[in-house]
Amino acid sequence: MRAGRIILAAAAVGGLATCDYFLPERGGAYIQGGDAMRGFALLETGAHGCQSCHAIPGIRAPRGVVGPPLAGMARRGFISGQLPNRTGVMVAFLRDPARLLPQTGMPDTHLTLDQARDMAAFLYTLEDPDAR
Ligand code: HEC
Repeated sequence: MRAGRIILAAAAVGGLATCDYFLPERGGAYIQGGDAMRGFALLETGAHGCQSCHAIPGIRAPRGVVGPPLAGMARRGFISGQLPNRTGVMVAFLRDPARLLPQTGMPDTHLTLDQARDMAAFLYTLEDPDAR
């Protein structure tokens, strides 16, 4: 999470319009058009209810327990233990989870493609599994 925080802070200070998040351990994968700061801001609004089901580092309340905590998401090998944790798969999963995993408990939260990219970019800043 340290690295993620630093990058987010740098993006905030620099006022970057887009932040192609760089993942060294994934060979430099980035999310085209994704902006981690925008994703974080969108999460904070609570508009899509993510935090009512997930504990998300940096997002204080309500830290729901229906879904898994999202700390360390960048380092997980799989999404929901089944899908390869790659940027494109993550964006598709966030947009329509049941299309990829018909039995999933994760609902369609009606994200646009841009919103899903931004949220995914933020999720890939979450490297520390113990972050709160
Ligand atoms: C109604 C509760 C609920 C809401 C709202 C919800 N999720 Fe989920 N989410 C889940 C559940 C349950 C799972 C586990 C799904 C599975 O294993 O099939 C999950 C899985 C995930 C995963 C994969 C986690 C992992 O450990 O692999 C991510 C990432 C995720 N959700 C992000 C989000 C985001 C971002 C939002 C908001 C746009 C959101 N979720 C909204 C319940 C929810």
